[in-house]
Amino acid sequence: MSTMETSKDDALYEYPFELTDVPRLSFDDPQANRLIANQKPVVLTGTNLVNSALHWDLNYLKDNIGNSLFTVYQSKNRYFRYYEPRKIPQHKDFKPPTLQAEMNFSEFVDKLKECQKTGIHKLYLQQLLFQNIGERIIKDFISFNWDWINQQKNLNRWGPLSSNLLLIAMAGNITSVHYDEQQNFLAQVRGRKRCLLFSPEQFECLYPYPIHHPHDRQSQVNLENLNLKKFPKSADLEGMQAILEPGDVLYIPVYWWHQIESLPQNGVTISINFWYKVRNFLEESITYPLTTSQKIAIMRNIEKMITDALGNVDEVGPFMQSMVLGRYT
Ligand code: OGA
Ligand code: FE
Repeated sequence: MSTMETSKDDALYEYPFELTDVPRLSFDDPQANRLIANQKPVVLTGTNLVNSALHWDLNYLKDNIGNSLFTVYQSKNRYFRYYEPRKIPQHKDFKPPTLQAEMNFSEFVDKLKECQKTGIHKLYLQQLLFQNIGERIIKDFISFNWDWINQQKNLNRWGPLSSNLLLIAMAGNITSVHYDEQQNFLAQVRGRKRCLLFSPEQFECLYPYPIHHPHDRQSQVNLENLNLKKFPKSADLEGMQAILEPGDVLYIPVYWWHQIESLPQNGVTISINFWYKVRNFLEESITYPLTTSQKIAIMRNIEKMITDALGNVDEVGPFMQSMVLGRYT
């Protein structure tokens, strides 16, 4: 981490693995639709998805977002690795890597200014957008290009929109590499973000935490400091990269790994994501061979079933080992 000081000329950290560019295409390019249909990442330009929010900045939000509470994570370093509070009781030794606080928006802005001055902490606001926001923000929200995004949802037979997350990050913040169980359009509103993506096929190179762990869906690998002794297959990592600018929309397919860095600059980055549920593939007509994503869904179900049946998270590893060792290995 200490080797990752970012210089003034915006030099990006050079990863020791291959990174190819995520295709950057106009929303009306047929190839863009093909990529989405095939669950491959793409940066879309010209969608106008969040044009009605491109004027958002901290002052406008402070004046118009209302007095509801926002979830703000605080980190002593630049990493924000998500954790599920409900999985902490089974892991007595678990220390949350970030603090979570609820505050109204103007408290957030005050705290942000303080942190920018002292540089001791990093803050990351991550709040699901609900109804209890001010009128003008609701108006901007209603004016998103819902026509385009609904059309995508229908074309690709996704389930319903589950939520929109508002993300406001300080320069240098990194959302650690993880995957989500939903389809995602990540729309950039302000500032730039560097996104690294890895296909679901890289599962073994990224060593996700066990499903019962608070860091479920997160990789144990630190991409900026690979530990090849502990995680030898991380040497085989091959990723994709996209730099998001305001107005860009990144399609992050379900089960695709992603790490997202707010690029050093003045001020903050603002993004809004659109998470769509996926249909349970068992309810669709199944064709073989199964896709990697389908296999990951199966693995998650089986891992969960074993964990629940044993009733003790410490027994899961030995149990699975005796099931396969010398029999399937
Ligand atoms: C996401 C996500 C993190 C970020 O939208 O799924 O992980 O920092 N975003 O933008
Ligand atoms: Fe994510």
